Amino acid sequence: MIAKYNAKITGTGHFVPEKILTNADLEKMVDTSDEWIRTRTGMSVRHVASKDEAASDLSYHAALKALEAADLKPKDLDMIIVGTISGDHAFPSTACILQKKLGLRNFPAFDISAGCPGWIYAINIAKQFVENGVAQNVLVIGVEILTKITNYKDRNTCILFGDGAGASIISRKEPTDISRIIDSEITADGTHNELLIQEAGGSRMPACKESVKKNLHTLYMEGNKIFKFAVKSMYSMCDIVLKRNNLDVTSIDWLITHQANMRIIDALGRKMKIDTNKVIVNIEKYGNTSSATIPIALDEAIREGKIRKGDLVLMASFGAGLTSGSLLIRL
Ligand code: ACO
Repeated sequence: MIAKYNAKITGTGHFVPEKILTNADLEKMVDTSDEWIRTRTGMSVRHVASKDEAASDLSYHAALKALEAADLKPKDLDMIIVGTISGDHAFPSTACILQKKLGLRNFPAFDISAGCPGWIYAINIAKQFVENGVAQNVLVIGVEILTKITNYKDRNTCILFGDGAGASIISRKEPTDISRIIDSEITADGTHNELLIQEAGGSRMPACKESVKKNLHTLYMEGNKIFKFAVKSMYSMCDIVLKRNNLDVTSIDWLITHQANMRIIDALGRKMKIDTNKVIVNIEKYGNTSSATIPIALDEAIREGKIRKGDLVLMASFGAGLTSGSLLIRL
């Protein structure tokens, strides 16, 4: 398809709940230590939603910040796409709930279930709607409240996850503007879908006493198998977009990868041979917020003045599915 228009990110925002869960708190809950968590993951604290906070609440606050940064009002939006695996309900979509919260109606609003790359998948889709002229301003959210489906008796997983939302506005670009979403690649390898799964609550295993008793509504993950997939898949996704655009890694100003584990981020950086000063990391403050890690890191880096207009930013993620994706933008 030859694009009629180009798309760009015109505004970003993020929001995390107030409550903090520290490594010291986790030491009291399971057999672990601050030292183990720091050295094995790079994490120190994470934000945790309150009983009353759901995905659409975090999304709403992040969305308002992104709209303000884009100098737009909610009424300027004509599509909402939310990447999440921990939405308010199985249905309706969190995007529809968010549409109502923003006082809007009568345009497409839907969720994408793609694990941690959910935000990249959603941007990839939004880009196409903007490029073909169907949409002018799309609100794209990556949001997760994984702490509500975390098993706090399983030390292998409960130390990893935090909650948060990252929002971005994807708009039609003016011809004179250098900013642009350049390229994106998304893929999935469903043969390994059982490695990261919430087994119960769907049509395969509806909720019942047994499913609750066996903790099957919480997240199950085979961490070390995912670890190997993570580096390989993110490297491949980055390589595809770099080669397709005749770029090499030295042209990249910033790399933002999924914040799942510091050792994964380091290993990918080494494999790509990228200058470590160009790698954005905030895992210490938020843990793994799944589909929200990249839009939160992107927003923080923009607001801190680290990433500036004109910078070339490469992003990559992997997660449940198993899915992976990359995104290349000039801010
Ligand atoms: N504290 C102390 N010891 C622990 C802890 C803990 N919190 N967790 C595990 N251990 C122990 C294990 O029991 C094991 O002990 P053993 O050798 O006596 O059996 C030992 O530490 C090593 O366990 P590993 O699982 O091999 O530890 P690893 O170094 O692989 O780290 C981790 C585990 C952090 C989960 C890592 O594998 C990882 O980050 N994997 C990727 C996770 C990820 O990115 N998931 C995908 C995204 S999430 C999403 O899509 C929703």
